[in-house]
Amino acid sequence: MIRWGILGAGRIARKFAASLRELPDARLAAVGSRSAERAQALAAEFGALRCHASYRTFAEDPEVDAVYVATRHPWHREAMTLCLRAGRAVLCEKPFTVNAVEARDVVALARSRKVFLMEAMWTRFFPVMTPLAQWLAAGRIGEPRLFQGDFGFLNDWKPEGRHLNLALGGGALLDVGVYLVSLSSKFFGRPESVVSQAALGETGVDESCGMVFRHSGGRLSVLTAAIRTDTRKDVVLYGTAGRIEIHVPFWKPSAITFTPLQGAAERIERPYPNFGYQFEAAHVMQCLREGRTESSLMPLDETISIMETLDAVRAPWGLRYPGECAAPEAPCV
Ligand SMILES: NC(=O)c1ccc[n+]([C@@H]2O[C@H](COP(=O)([O-])OP(=O)(O)OC[C@H]3O[C@@H](n4cnc5c(N)ncnc54)[C@H](OP(=O)(O)O)[C@@H]3O)[C@@H](O)[C@H]2O)c1
Repeated sequence: MIRWGILGAGRIARKFAASLRELPDARLAAVGSRSAERAQALAAEFGALRCHASYRTFAEDPEVDAVYVATRHPWHREAMTLCLRAGRAVLCEKPFTVNAVEARDVVALARSRKVFLMEAMWTRFFPVMTPLAQWLAAGRIGEPRLFQGDFGFLNDWKPEGRHLNLALGGGALLDVGVYLVSLSSKFFGRPESVVSQAALGETGVDESCGMVFRHSGGRLSVLTAAIRTDTRKDVVLYGTAGRIEIHVPFWKPSAITFTPLQGAAERIERPYPNFGYQFEAAHVMQCLREGRTESSLMPLDETISIMETLDAVRAPWGLRYPGECAAPEAPCV
C-alpha cells in the first residue's frame, strides 16, 4: 500500500483524490493546506486520517510515502522543495514550475537527496498512449514530419482568478500550452528554433499564443493555446505515410485514429473510469516499488527541457511573472 498525501486542497486535488480510489494498493493518508478547514474537508471526503494546516508540517509527516503537489504553479517550487527536503517522493502538477531556473533548482535537490520526483504530465500515462506508441514504433505513418495541435477554452472573465492573474501564474502558455509543448517534445524532442506570438490581455497574461518550432531534420510543430477562446482541442501527427490523430480531449485521451495515405482509417478507443489521474499515480507507485528516483516516461531532463522551451516561447513577449528578472533565464528573486 502506498500512502499518498495531497498538498494544496483546491480543484484538481479533489479529482486526484477521487482517482486514487481506482487503485487498490493506494490510499490517501494526509492532506496539507494553508487552511485547516480546507484540509479537513478534503480529508473527510476521501477518508484521509491526517490533516495539516501548514505545508511544512505536512511535508514532515512520516506517514506519507508520496506527495501530489496540487498548488497553483507559483507555489510548486516551494511545495516540492519542502517535501523533497523531508525525503518524500513527489509528483508535481504541470507546469512543473514557472520557469526553467526553478525547475533546475528542484531537480538538482531531488537528485542530490536521491528522492523520486516527476512532473504530473498525466497525458503520457493514459492507456490509449500505448497503441499510439506501437503505431509509431511500427512506422505506420512513415517518417513523422509535422505536429499540429491546439488547446483553447473560453474562461469566464475573472481577472483575479488563476487563469488571468499574472501573480497566480496566469496565461495560456503555462496553463494549457504546456500540454502541446510536452507532446511536441515527446514526438520530436527539443526544438532547434522557436518563434511565437502572443495576444497579451489587459491583465498582462497571454490570452492566446501561437508557436512554431523547428526540430532536427526539418520537422515542425505548429501549436496554438488559448484561455479566452474555445478551440478544437485535438492534435495530429503527420508523417510521410499517414497521420495519427489524438482526439479531443487530447490531454486526457481515450481515442486515437490512424489514417494511412491510402486505405481505411483505424480507430482505437480505450475508455477509462473516473477522472484519469489514476494512471500517472500508478506509474509513480511502480517506480517507487522498483526503487527508481526518476520516471523513464516523463524524465526530469525532459521536464527541464520543456520548461526551457516555454521560457524561449515567451521571452520575446516581455511577459514576466512577479519575482522574475527581466530575462527568464536570470535567477528569480
Ligand atoms: N492535470 C490537470 O488536468 C490540471 C487541471 C487543472 C489544474 N492543473 C494544475 O494544478 C494546479 C492547481 O490548479 P487548481 O485548478 O486546482 O487551482 P486552485 O484550485 O485555484 O488552487 C489550488 C491550490 O493552490 C494553493 N495555493 C498555495 N498558495 C497559494 C496562494 N498564495 N494563493 C492561492 N492559492 C495558493 C491553494 O491551496 P491551499 O489553500 O489549500 O493551501 C489552492 O487550494 C495548477 O498548477 C494547474 O496548472 C492541472
